[in-house]
Amino acid sequence: MIDFRIDSEKCIQCGECAADCPAGIIFMNDLPVMSDEGRCYRCLHCYSVCPVGAVSILGLTPEGGEPARDLPSPAQMKDLITWRRSVRRYRDENVPAALIDELVETACHAPTGVNAQGVVFTVVRDKAFMDTLRRETLKRLGSMVDAGKLPDGLVGQYLGFAVRAWRTEGRDAIFRGAPHMLLTSTSPGVPCPVQDVHIALATFELLASSHSLGTLWDGMFMMALAVCPELRETLRIPADHALGYALLFGRPAVQYHRPVRRGPAKVNILE
Ligand SMILES: Cc1cc2nc3c(=O)[nH]c(=O)nc-3n(C[C@H](O)[C@H](O)[C@H](O)COP(=O)(O)O)c2cc1C
Repeated sequence: MIDFRIDSEKCIQCGECAADCPAGIIFMNDLPVMSDEGRCYRCLHCYSVCPVGAVSILGLTPEGGEPARDLPSPAQMKDLITWRRSVRRYRDENVPAALIDELVETACHAPTGVNAQGVVFTVVRDKAFMDTLRRETLKRLGSMVDAGKLPDGLVGQYLGFAVRAWRTEGRDAIFRGAPHMLLTSTSPGVPCPVQDVHIALATFELLASSHSLGTLWDGMFMMALAVCPELRETLRIPADHALGYALLFGRPAVQYHRPVRRGPAKVNILE
């Protein structure tokens, strides 16, 4: 039930809701009318774009004036992007659960194809769980090394190196001692699964950076998951889900004092 309603006292018949509807199902008949609710994306553009707060939809009713937006400046955004570093050293402490929840809730505002909002966020919210996952992952990989069952090639080399580092130095080359992990996945039928899972994590990463949290895209754990699918059960990821990616995060035990130089960007300019 879409429950598209117009407050006729407020509506100024500007047509913005109709012009902005991605499905093209709102038309003006003096007041706006939704023609085919079944095709609504539930994107809430009609609600968001209305300059006078006349549109209610999906149980959402505008409440008076919204506070003025305080957007980060372009210079602040550039700093956020150029100062972000992969963090491989973490403090052995939990990030407050309320902050983690807030970051995930905000990250789920990232765009998704057809507004499917189908990304499932698996969150390791306690470092004790991370310890269990670390031990189990390295134990399973160690057994595979001993049985000669790691695949040939780069995956086998990297994971073999991680097992050696763990056994000889107690060094965690897979999770880097991070207290938390965020892993995205999607159930079957999500229209743009490959894109959605990564956009959500990239959004989370920048947001986490703005809170002075460190992050690391964890390709090593993705390799471990590929060779030990049993680890999915430990993470309670449904068998039919397509895996996205894993992102480690936590309070950094390292500080970076300057941004690095990248680029020039490889560009293909048309004008
Ligand atoms: C998809 C992806 C997977 C990655 N996997 C790992 C990893 O498993 N271990 C690691 O130490 N770094 C990993 N990284 C971090 C990259 O090595 C890092 O982004 C790169 O060296 C640039 O450094 P910067 O992020 O500090 O700018 C990964 C990065 C990406 C984007």
